[in-house]
Amino acid sequence: MQHFKTIIEPFRIHAVEPITMTTREARVRALEDAGYNLFGLPAEDVIIDLLTDSGTGAMSRDQWAAIQHGDESYAGSPSFTLFRKAVQDLFHFKHVIPTHQGRAAEKILFATVAGPGKVIPNNTHFDTTRANVEFTGATAVDVVIPEGRIPSNLHPFKGNVDLAALERVITEAGPENVPLVMVTVTNNSGGGQPVSLENLRAVRAVCDRFGLPLYLDACRFAENAWFIHEREPGQAGRPVREIVREMASLADGMTMSAKKDGLANIGGWLAMHDDAVAARCRNLLILTEGFPTYGGLAGRDLEAIAQGLVEVVDPDYLRYRIRSTAYLGDALVRAGIPVVRPIGGHAVYIDARALLAHIPPLQYPGQALATALYVEGGIRGCEIGTLMFGRHPDGTETPAAMDLVRLAIPRRTYTQSHMDYVIEVVTYVASQAAALRGFEILDEPPQLRHFTVRLRPLA
Ligand code: F0G
Repeated sequence: MQHFKTIIEPFRIHAVEPITMTTREARVRALEDAGYNLFGLPAEDVIIDLLTDSGTGAMSRDQWAAIQHGDESYAGSPSFTLFRKAVQDLFHFKHVIPTHQGRAAEKILFATVAGPGKVIPNNTHFDTTRANVEFTGATAVDVVIPEGRIPSNLHPFKGNVDLAALERVITEAGPENVPLVMVTVTNNSGGGQPVSLENLRAVRAVCDRFGLPLYLDACRFAENAWFIHEREPGQAGRPVREIVREMASLADGMTMSAKKDGLANIGGWLAMHDDAVAARCRNLLILTEGFPTYGGLAGRDLEAIAQGLVEVVDPDYLRYRIRSTAYLGDALVRAGIPVVRPIGGHAVYIDARALLAHIPPLQYPGQALATALYVEGGIRGCEIGTLMFGRHPDGTETPAAMDLVRLAIPRRTYTQSHMDYVIEVVTYVASQAAALRGFEILDEPPQLRHFTVRLRPLA
């Protein structure tokens, strides 16, 4: 049989959304109005929106059909039963608590188990995870392997936890002050890099030794499972669904944003085995999200997520998904642009600190690059670096571990020609890198400053 090398989108397009083709002059004005913060732009002023892969994907025909099936009963909706069954088919946890998105699950979990004096280790906390830990007065500590902090290092599982560092953090804090250990799959802030099953098993063993629960931040669990399928010895023959189940079996609970590998536009959940923790979480849920059979979601959203969980572990989908991200990343590598390698699951991360070595980290080279991509090509990416992570709860500011610009790919949304355009724009901007300038901050909020900060370009 003939094997063709092109991996095509395993779907046809059923409804289209127009893109407004803006001019460079209009984008310069829009950026100024937004205080040089790309979160402040009206989305219709963006040509290719790679700000995030969260909630921005296209739902399938079957998900839209499921929406019509939603039951909006306040309590005991059959849509909840369907949702819980779909979650438990992959993640065996006894309690499944729906939330409106991932950070609501984080907020409830950490309000329940964390607090002053507590320490939460994680391979790398994402921004909202770290903020929700710190908001309770606890300390968030990142313990990713050293390879995970080196953009050019080709380790196949750069999201892995540094086991020695994990043990050190637990011993120094005292296990009684560590309410849980968290592992983020894939490791978003570190480049969308996967965690191996072998590493998860080893983290489990550390947790067992200290008697600690292990929670997954499972936002991109299917992409992580695909990398395990492709890269981990002995895993290639296993169905993705089974790999996901083994990942889940190693944990005691999870937080989830269904806006990623739920293939939905909204939603999330919190799940665990522990009855007492679940009871406390449900009480908080009722206070802030809603009754435990809908948790801030409409019944139709629960149905869309249930169907999304079936589609996301389809190997044809995952092969296309991971390949389409690598298509963009490989082209940028060929063009000589420094990117985090290997290419991650949901995004390509440009190493702005390397590309713009003339801009010091405290002048936000990532923001300089992200704003230039917008001005030149209408592409909206996201700074993941000193602007996002540089300010600490005590008010001090230091450079983040890396200064990256993330080009996150919405699921099933853009085609290969859109990506060819992105490649052309990024290559052009990189050729003009020496002319880019850094930024200073005009005003910033105390937490999660990158969402609302206003900046000024330096002369
Ligand atoms: N954990 C990880 C690893 C995430 O990437 C995100 C969101 C969350 C938790 C929170 O989930 O948005 O549903 O509240 N990440 C998005 C992003 C926003 O752009 O990477 P949420």
